[in-house]
Amino acid sequence: MIIILLGAPGSGKGTQAQVLCKHFSIPQISTGDMLRAAKKARTLDPQILAIMDAGGLVPDQVVIDLIDKRIDDPDAKVGFLLDGFPRTVPQAEALGTLLSSEKRGNRGIDRVIQLDVPREMIEERTIYRRTDKRSGQIYHLLYNPPPPNAELEHRADDQAEAVKKRLDAYEAMTAALLPYYEKTGLLQRVDGVGKPEEVTSRVFAALDIDQGQPGVQGSDQRAQDPKPPAA
Ligand code: AP5
Repeated sequence: MIIILLGAPGSGKGTQAQVLCKHFSIPQISTGDMLRAAKKARTLDPQILAIMDAGGLVPDQVVIDLIDKRIDDPDAKVGFLLDGFPRTVPQAEALGTLLSSEKRGNRGIDRVIQLDVPREMIEERTIYRRTDKRSGQIYHLLYNPPPPNAELEHRADDQAEAVKKRLDAYEAMTAALLPYYEKTGLLQRVDGVGKPEEVTSRVFAALDIDQGQPGVQGSDQRAQDPKPPAA
């Protein structure tokens, strides 16, 4: 199962990704998390990291190279969920090329889920977001408060100015992905407003999956529920 989660910054991609990946026992591949890990490990050009902290998109080739390596890891053989990648049409095209290569057995994307959340709700979601450094669990100080023993981090790009820039980048670049994936017939739009568990139910419904049933690791939904590509 290969799933792509699309949506604006703070739309809940990471929150829903954690539930889906647990259900299907597939890894969550987040280019944002990979870039933040590279920042900690000092393995990327500081100028690129500065773009990220300010809320801009890093160059396409940087994230394409990260994905190119990551999808060959053993845990990704059964499938994976992409969170925050692709973000531009060139990234989507590169992903298609990477997956369809012979060495990767001509794999295809199973589903693309877009979480729709109005811009005015995003600011509150990101400014109050905190992440547990040890577990990576995402919390919200108001809606999903962390336990007292959590070691909380506040992301550099969750300051109001950077959030605005991220939303602008999303609207300018990432929104073009919707028509791109609409044409493939794989795109499902899900209302991302409401309690996280309500959104989760909608996501499972969009995937035609019974949330109560255990997921088969990496199961290929195309085999069970084919969707013809749009003409
Ligand atoms: P990335 O880490 O991917 O950030 P993002 O896309 O901006 O998304 P977020 O992680 O901010 O939000 P989310 O949708 O995961 O929401 P979450 O679940 O945390 O990217 C960061 C940066 O890296 C980019 O700006 C760019 O510079 C660079 N980058 C990454 N990938 C790139 C690429 N492919 N190309 C170029 N550059 C790239 O939820 C947010 C908050 O809301 C949390 O506090 C959560 O608890 C809360 N919440 C979640 N759901 C709900 C709900 N239903 N109701 C109320 N609160 C909720």
